[in-house]
Amino acid sequence: MAVNLRGRNFITLLDFSPEEIKYMLDLSRDLKRDKYLGHEHKHLTNKNIVILFAKDSTRTRCAFEVGGMDLGMGVTYLGPNGSQMNKKESVMDTARVLGRMYDGIEFRGYKQSDVETLGEYAGVPVWNGLTDLYHPTQILADWLTIIEHKGHLKGINFTFVGDARNNMGNSLMIGAAKMGMNFTALAPKELWPDQSLVDTCNAIALETGATIRITDDVKEGTTNADVIYTDVWVSMGEPKEVWEKRIKMLASYQVNMDMLRNAKEDVTFMHCLPAFHDVKTDVGSDIAAKLGKDYPAVKNGELEVTDEVFESKHSVVFDEAENRMHTIKAIMLATIGS
Ligand code: CP
Ligand code: NVA
Repeated sequence: MAVNLRGRNFITLLDFSPEEIKYMLDLSRDLKRDKYLGHEHKHLTNKNIVILFAKDSTRTRCAFEVGGMDLGMGVTYLGPNGSQMNKKESVMDTARVLGRMYDGIEFRGYKQSDVETLGEYAGVPVWNGLTDLYHPTQILADWLTIIEHKGHLKGINFTFVGDARNNMGNSLMIGAAKMGMNFTALAPKELWPDQSLVDTCNAIALETGATIRITDDVKEGTTNADVIYTDVWVSMGEPKEVWEKRIKMLASYQVNMDMLRNAKEDVTFMHCLPAFHDVKTDVGSDIAAKLGKDYPAVKNGELEVTDEVFESKHSVVFDEAENRMHTIKAIMLATIGS
């Protein structure tokens, strides 16, 4: 049967079949080609979207704005302080107001339940632009990038290293289970993903041929990896006081050249970005100054990844960043429908 996603929300990849995910990836590839060839693709003229951000963003915001405009739509941005939502108006009421004016709603915030409420009451497609629990639009960009570099997803040995119970760790594990990949979460035990989500992913894996492995052993977790992926050690919304504790837990899980040498020779390094790999950020330089003495791994502001790896031939991080736009465009086109 043909895939039809019109009217659907995009809140977690758990809601989508492997065929539906493949459909969105194929559409992303086609839209990317259109863009490169200079073919106009204003399939959604006379439509309008609103993008709600309770947390900061560079890639996700710009991908929705440029993607929306490329499709011919009007785009309204509402930032952390720009709307009544959660202050004088509930999420449920906001959903019913915005749904009367817009053809689609993007939300980035804290609670997964907020994006679910928007999705339940808006009456138009709602897209999850990141919550504390999930970041599903990022996964489509990552999978498109892997297809471009490795040719396929099924059977890829994929290792996520770092805070494996954050929004990226959770969403990558779901996405890998759906697409028949061999997923490893490499993290200290305190940062392992929630067992109920692991059980859910294992059940999906039985259907797709994926495997799920959780380990705290760096050697075991990176041997034969096709892809090594990491993310920040402290996510948006967490208090800055957790930094030192997290560095203590994760210093030996920093992605460096030794780790890459343990993987396949042509291993690809990925990161959703933003990344701490030098002292050219406020946080990176602050941590280097305060904690570099006690934790030599972070003395140059290199936290989850060294600058050497970030800038190496293995790194495809800017391909991933660009692919945010092509994949978000595909999600909007598929769910709004032309
Ligand atoms: N990767 C990602 O979501 O980046 P932003 O926080 O800049 O949107
Ligand atoms: N885990 C990170 C992802 C950023 C795209 C965060 O939530 O801050």
